[in-house]
Amino acid sequence: MAILQLEDGTRLTDLREIYRELAPLNIKLNRWAVGNSQQLRQLLGQDSLNEDEKEQILKSLDRYFEQLQQTAGYQMRDLIVLHPGIPNLDALLTKFAKIHTHSEDEVRYIVDGEGIFGFVRPDGTQVELTVQPEEYINVPAGTEHWFYLTPAQRIKAVRYFTGTEGWTPEYTGTQIRTRQAVA
Ligand SMILES: [Fe+2]
Repeated sequence: MAILQLEDGTRLTDLREIYRELAPLNIKLNRWAVGNSQQLRQLLGQDSLNEDEKEQILKSLDRYFEQLQQTAGYQMRDLIVLHPGIPNLDALLTKFAKIHTHSEDEVRYIVDGEGIFGFVRPDGTQVELTVQPEEYINVPAGTEHWFYLTPAQRIKAVRYFTGTEGWTPEYTGTQIRTRQAVA
């Protein structure tokens, strides 16, 4: 379940309260079931995955991609797999750990592990949202945000794209004031 942490340290787990706090950002947060396939569950439990295995996971979740294709013009999807065994994991993550925006929506479906999105709300306050398996999130283009992993350093997420452009982070220079305690 998603957890939202406010700047004063308040942690919200009630989805209605989380939606209310995120409302000024127009962020969409939904629960999407992974399903009961044993094979899929087994693949999701692995640390690393080869390209065939990634494609198997993506195919078994393509019902969501098809919805996005039809309703919102999405064209591509891939699976990002991060775990402590990945060489240069820290360097990879550094790119997204500073406050940035994109010219396209950032759309993720978490299927294993977890990660933390930080957001700057229109009034300047900052919040951090922990996203967990079976959670779909759409961060609108132009939203000031950052992303990092929890101490487990493990996540698998489907990424949906409308095109190849607009994916480069544009750094805004805003400083992160709230960052959840990491080990
Ligand atoms: Fe981003």
